Amino acid sequence: MPKPTTAFTCTACGAAHKKWAGRCDACGAWNTIIEEAPLSQGPGRGLGAHKGRAVPLSGLSTSEPPPPRARSGMEELDRVLGGGLVPGSALLVGGDPGIGKSTLLLQAAAALSRRDLNAIYFSGEEASAQVRMRAQRLGLGDAPMRLGAETNLRDILTTLDAERPDVAVIDSIQTLWSDTVEAAPGSVAQVRAAAHELVTFAKRRGVAVILVGHVTKDGQIAGPRVVEHMVDTVLYFEGERGHQFRILRSVKNRFGPSGEIGVFEMTGAGLAEVSNPSALFLSERGQPFAGSAVFAGIEGTRPVLTEVQALVAPSTLASPRRTVVGLDSGRVSTILAVLEARCGIPFAGLDVFLNVAGGMRVAEPAADLAIAGALLSAREDNALPPEAVLFGEISLSGALRPVAQAENRLKEAQKLGFTQVILPEATKLEGVGGMALRRITDLTGFVGEVFGA
Ligand code: TYD
Ligand code: MG
Repeated sequence: MPKPTTAFTCTACGAAHKKWAGRCDACGAWNTIIEEAPLSQGPGRGLGAHKGRAVPLSGLSTSEPPPPRARSGMEELDRVLGGGLVPGSALLVGGDPGIGKSTLLLQAAAALSRRDLNAIYFSGEEASAQVRMRAQRLGLGDAPMRLGAETNLRDILTTLDAERPDVAVIDSIQTLWSDTVEAAPGSVAQVRAAAHELVTFAKRRGVAVILVGHVTKDGQIAGPRVVEHMVDTVLYFEGERGHQFRILRSVKNRFGPSGEIGVFEMTGAGLAEVSNPSALFLSERGQPFAGSAVFAGIEGTRPVLTEVQALVAPSTLASPRRTVVGLDSGRVSTILAVLEARCGIPFAGLDVFLNVAGGMRVAEPAADLAIAGALLSAREDNALPPEAVLFGEISLSGALRPVAQAENRLKEAQKLGFTQVILPEATKLEGVGGMALRRITDLTGFVGEVFGA
């Protein structure tokens, strides 16, 4: 019999390693690899007694309509889910501790239960009385949902099997423990085993299971990435702690578009939906100042305007600061290099600070032109026209590339009172009138046209 060997697992991404290392090759995280007992190798490694079932593809009946999705009535949530919760699906909602996951899911479970769905919320972190108090404070005291305070996976599955709810929320996956796995709750082995059993249960019994997962920093507890591949839908709840805005983003969805966002505001009475995020993200915009550029972006299927802010100041450091919040810092370095190499505008010896107002995160390459605009405007101390929005991708040659969904971006900008758009020359536009278009072929042309250099 082979000697049981210990395995090393990364708690951030779940990758298995033969030996310990300071950095995980798979995800690049530091200090996240821990030693774990191997999964039991038990008997029965040969052929099984039962045959798995395979059916011909053409023999599957497609005449049955897909089961209706359960809508919660929280529009922002339903849209991120792709139109509502699919029965029998497994979801993961990840996010930093304290960001508002429990609040969101308690509100969602209550909303679903008010629409005649049977919803159970299991909390492994708070006692039922505490959850009830929170529900009362959120004005959900009368919702016909049920609460459970359980951490034993077997007890939870037994309850679910007896009650057959439509939706079950498990808050959080890191508090569960299964007595078949010899490892502490929160370890990769436990989290994986619990998620596997719950996902299998969801499929078999048609119960939609929502797993909550804390994003962890220290590596002692497994993070939500460990179960991402098992579930149908992965949502991340993000936001800056100091800001009241929270963004629910779908990063994987087997039943809808990924990249879709829902915007919420954390108030004294729980999470409130924000149906017009552009107005919200621009609401803090005061007098136009040098270094501010309004980016007309697309998040999922929805246009969202955000303000990119830059500050450029002489540096006393040998290698000047590049502080970037809410944008991809690699992208920002590329744009700085293109400005220097193609337009002859150096940023050496200057500290650069860039952020997106309101705590939003922007990952679209279409934001390049707005980033360049904010940087140039800050450097030249020359404000961009306050009535203008920008979008366009910058290539390494300095040329501007057109981006998708230009009409939607323009319509949103128009709705919010903007009258001018600075965009790549090659953008194809149909049927958007009333906006002054400033078409630009490359970055040098942009500098000349907008800053008169
Ligand atoms: P919570 O949902 O417990 O976070 P998570 O489950 O992601 O750890 O939310 C915790 C934070 O939300 C806490 O700092 C307080 C704040 N909060 C409000 O501001 N208003 C509210 O009505 C509630 C319930 C929480
Ligand atoms: Mg919580």
